[in-house]
Amino acid sequence: MRPEELKKYAAAVPRYTSYPTAPHFKPAIDAQTYAGWLRALKPGTEASLYVHIPFCKEMCWYCGCSTKVTRRHEPISRYLDALELEIETVAGHMTPDHSIRHLHWGGGSPSILDPDDTHRLASSIKSHFKLAPDAEFAVEMDPRGLDEANIAAFAAAGVNRVSIGVQDFEESVQKAINRMQSFELTASVVDTFRKHGVRSVNIDLVYGLPHQTRATVDNTIERVLALAPDRIALFGYAHLPSRIPHQRLIDTATLPDVKERFAQANRAANRLVSAGYVSIGLDHFARPTDPLANGPVARNFQGYTTDSADTLIGLGASSIGFLPQGYVQNTAPVADYERRVASGGLATARGHALSPDDAARKFVIERLMCDFHFPAEELRARFGDVSVPIIEEAQALVESDTDDLVEPLPSSDGFRITDKGKLFVRSICSVFDTYLGHGTAQHSSGV
Ligand SMILES: C[S@@+](CC[C@H](N)C(=O)[O-])C[C@H]1O[C@@H](n2cnc3c(N)ncnc32)[C@H](O)[C@@H]1O
Ligand code: SF4
Repeated sequence: MRPEELKKYAAAVPRYTSYPTAPHFKPAIDAQTYAGWLRALKPGTEASLYVHIPFCKEMCWYCGCSTKVTRRHEPISRYLDALELEIETVAGHMTPDHSIRHLHWGGGSPSILDPDDTHRLASSIKSHFKLAPDAEFAVEMDPRGLDEANIAAFAAAGVNRVSIGVQDFEESVQKAINRMQSFELTASVVDTFRKHGVRSVNIDLVYGLPHQTRATVDNTIERVLALAPDRIALFGYAHLPSRIPHQRLIDTATLPDVKERFAQANRAANRLVSAGYVSIGLDHFARPTDPLANGPVARNFQGYTTDSADTLIGLGASSIGFLPQGYVQNTAPVADYERRVASGGLATARGHALSPDDAARKFVIERLMCDFHFPAEELRARFGDVSVPIIEEAQALVESDTDDLVEPLPSSDGFRITDKGKLFVRSICSVFDTYLGHGTAQHSSGV
């Protein structure tokens, strides 16, 4: 990769976990719209649930998630009261026969819940929604502070997949991000989950962190391989200090530059593939036997997933959901969320109703992010005339590409992203994003 190419394509672009991306959601989509969308859902269709727990015991300085620090239990109990109310209200707008095949608790750190909290929240969900017997129930865990009683409670609630944050095992990196976490503690949490029957384990890693080098990344990858996770997510650090105040505690001078970020990502990916993992999309890796490696793969706010439902119900402060009609996002400040649901209302603060053009571009961007392929025929078959200008944009992209990022497909007017282009898939997606450049959204490095 030539340095000038790196510079050109490393421009700040969205991660495309949705289209349009969340900064383009508008308050015109409110609780009333959401209630109408919920009531219009076809009875009996599949839906997924996402529950956000916006609390952590300590703040990691790199963190871009919607969370706040609490050392007391009282805010967590109060929040669970509100979640129970929201679950009841949302379920009240739906028919009771939607089959839930994917349930995901994210955060923040759902691992902050004590055994009673876990039991209470899981029971509330199960009494209002019909969980499929083989449903995936995944929870994001900060392993620090998790004891066996907590782990046993998650297992008893039916959790069958855990996603454990690691980022980097090197002490100098951990100090610079305010996240001290030993390999031994992480290994013991992984073992204890497995002992309690939670066998599917994902590990989150981040490259591009302060003081990170190729050597620290190598060392972290070897230790992660020793834990034999089923999946690994390898995110590029998104540094947006003007929007995320605690990231200002990170000294910019200690951050790797674009060339080094690129080298770290490449090296880690090559090592994971040589260890037998299958590369999925931009930043996920899975064992060949894992369902994620055996497709089809979809993309949602949690990243790459096997969840293909066209309805995701987002519960909790800041949660984003999608329905066939469009996206909805709950208000993010916890106090405002609690106030809105206390009166029996929905907590929707903004959203986006998909136009036919949005729906077609959403389809294209998701396929590019998941399969590295522009699916011209399927686009035309699904979206008819709406697909015409999008296919013209794809053809113009292929014709103007002098850097071998894309290649035309024989007997098709679609294209494939080359191995070189895969690293810049977000920039390629941005060609089809008609919202980019409008508004004040900020994005992180494209590498
Ligand atoms: C909600 S957290 C994971 C669960 C748990 N709170 C933990 O930290 O272990 C989700 C993941 O997002 C990633 N992440 C957080 N902030 C990020 C940032 N600024 N840039 C890139 N990845 C980030 C980290 O890999 C983190 O594990
Ligand atoms: S990375 Fe995880 S533990 Fe750290 S502040 Fe963010 S959500 Fe909390």
